[in-house]
Amino acid sequence: MCVETVFLNGEYVKRSDAKVDIEDRGYQFGDGIYEVIRVYNGEVFTMDEHMERLYQSAEKMKITIPYELKEISSIVFKLMKDNHLKDGIVYMQVSRGISQRQHHFPAEEVPASLVAYTKEVPRPEKQMKEGVTAMLCEDIRWLRCDIKSLNLLGNLLAKEEAASRGHFEAIQHRGETVTEGSSSNAFIVKDGTILTHPATNLILNGITRRVIKELADQNGMPFVEKTFTVDELLSAEEIFIASTTSEVMPVVKVDDVTIGQGVPGPITSKLQALFTGRIKEDCKVQVV
Ligand code: PDD
Repeated sequence: MCVETVFLNGEYVKRSDAKVDIEDRGYQFGDGIYEVIRVYNGEVFTMDEHMERLYQSAEKMKITIPYELKEISSIVFKLMKDNHLKDGIVYMQVSRGISQRQHHFPAEEVPASLVAYTKEVPRPEKQMKEGVTAMLCEDIRWLRCDIKSLNLLGNLLAKEEAASRGHFEAIQHRGETVTEGSSSNAFIVKDGTILTHPATNLILNGITRRVIKELADQNGMPFVEKTFTVDELLSAEEIFIASTTSEVMPVVKVDDVTIGQGVPGPITSKLQALFTGRIKEDCKVQVV
């Protein structure tokens, strides 16, 4: 079995040797931030955007990342190389560090903890081709969903309910307004226009969402950042969700309502093809 290397607080260690202190604030409070970065064909996809968001989340949480951007990049590349990562993800999290348990922040000298590791993850090709199902649920999360915080309890409860009912995703709504999936952004196609919740404090501004917007704009596909209701979702021509690991994922049924013809729609399929084209371009990859 190959020995997997992980990064923990300044050191590259074997995964089995990576031990986290019981008073790490990430462990005790979920007091930290994270990123999931996609790797295709041994090349990182949208690295700059993920790094930018990592530092932005840190700033919003008043966490000082004790590494320069180029140091973090070299950690990512070294882990990929050491672990021979071809198609997968790099997971990275930064917590506020280790200190005696107290709610207020520790003294400034306490350095933030950084953990990073890699994982092989295939593209979800079958699901992207056939589409998935989702359920609706009330969005019970806090009001700073723009921060990619480690504290994901609301998301986890939503995803667990979806999974236990055999769904791929839970699409959340605050009252009548659809916000986003439990681990993805949500989109509908209405009258030929792609709609998605604006990038406010109520959603995470997904990197995949941004690539999709760029691709739609470049290819003359109408794309509007505007809220839509649960009724508009259920009567949409098409629905898809998007994330680093799910890419552009068609949703063909929500609870017991079939969307469109119950198969991935033409706009979603076109975006999937454009997205695959972007991966090919950026990661020099031979994908179908
Ligand atoms: N989740 N919204 C939420 C709540 C998410 O957790 C994610 C991603 C997204 C999409 O963001 P991006 O396109 O940057 O991956 C939107 C990651 C993949 C996760 O927690 O595993």
